[in-house]
Amino acid sequence: MSILITNIQELLQVREENTLKLSGNQMKELPTIKDAYLLIDNDTIVDFGSMIDVSTIKADKIIDATGKLVLPTWCDSHTHIVYAGDRSQEFVDRINGLSYEDIANRGGGITNSAKILQNTSEDELYNQSIARLKNVMKLGTGAIEIKSGYGLTPEAELKMLRVIKRIKKEFPLKVKATFLGAHALPLEYKDNKQGYLDQIINVMLPQIAKENLAQYIDIFCEKGYFDLNDTEQILNAGKHYNLIPKIHVNQFNAFGGIALAVKHNALSVDHLEQLNPKDIKALKDSDTIAVALPSCSYFLSIPYTPGRQIIDAGLPLALASDYNPGSTPSGNMNFVVSTACIKMRLTPEEAINAATINGAYAMGISNQYGSITKGKKANLIITKPISSYNYLPYAFGDNHIDTVIINGQVI
Ligand code: NIG
Ligand code: FE
Repeated sequence: MSILITNIQELLQVREENTLKLSGNQMKELPTIKDAYLLIDNDTIVDFGSMIDVSTIKADKIIDATGKLVLPTWCDSHTHIVYAGDRSQEFVDRINGLSYEDIANRGGGITNSAKILQNTSEDELYNQSIARLKNVMKLGTGAIEIKSGYGLTPEAELKMLRVIKRIKKEFPLKVKATFLGAHALPLEYKDNKQGYLDQIINVMLPQIAKENLAQYIDIFCEKGYFDLNDTEQILNAGKHYNLIPKIHVNQFNAFGGIALAVKHNALSVDHLEQLNPKDIKALKDSDTIAVALPSCSYFLSIPYTPGRQIIDAGLPLALASDYNPGSTPSGNMNFVVSTACIKMRLTPEEAINAATINGAYAMGISNQYGSITKGKKANLIITKPISSYNYLPYAFGDNHIDTVIINGQVI
């Protein structure tokens, strides 16, 4: 099955196949073709160019994109979309004056989500998760990283990862799985942190490796959660099973987690709302990408990741949603891109680059996703008729998407 998209007002993010990530300087440019066509064959982008050259091309289906823009689908490199129930009561508790930390300290937060998930069947967890997944696909997400970390027991962590595996099989979008056993300390281990780490290392990891349930390993490196020593243990154990680190770090405190992640060749360091010059220095000359999660800052009213500073230092930056029940109950990448422009002062070019090609890099798939490139997967957003790509982040909170194509299929 071939699809020809014609009369595209502007085709965005046109790149050579060897572009795998963009530095801060390169992020300033968003290469485009005006008055363009694009040809899909099955699941692959096979051709594109100026409409002047289109007359000879035939296809099974033609989509007329007059007045519309076409860009790659969003690559959301950090989510916790598999979870059970919600935490809307904690949302109200925060409005009434409790802090995120107060809520966690009284047994709410991550351990609250874990309790609900432990009591939810695998089928029910799958059904709740795919309702959210279908929604973000309609909002233009064509590739997604999904973490475990709301199980916190061997059974429940494996249940989460098996649900992710099932999603991978059943849906056309690209899925990468991350094991986040060290997300919070379960109540039973309140006074025995090493006991829980040992369980992750000796019980969970071997089983996950045996069933091939994860590609990446994560830990919440934060005061009150897991420290540098714990992080080192977990990353070393992950290495034994070829799990590449992508870690939660510097959300509330900066204490050397980024340098440690870089030392372990992490693919990404995520959050970074708190960032000091040493962290920036550690990221320079590394292959580790910084990932900002502006919807989390918005929802928790915490500082935004200094994305401007990261880009101005020449470093690559990716944007992701952090979709989860506690700090970001939204997976809308259009909102993420707008918020990055409005609150972090990224330009539309920088924000779109951060949510496409650099997002793909942050989940290890930029050789096949994240740009309009011959041979890459046909994952495309066709917008409604709009004046220019600046309009996407500018007119925030509205849905500017007309059609989403994932793996060559119209969603
Ligand atoms: O990325 N920071 C750690 N983990 C999640 C939120 C966890 C929760 O509150 O459920 C995050 O923000
Ligand atoms: Fe997260």
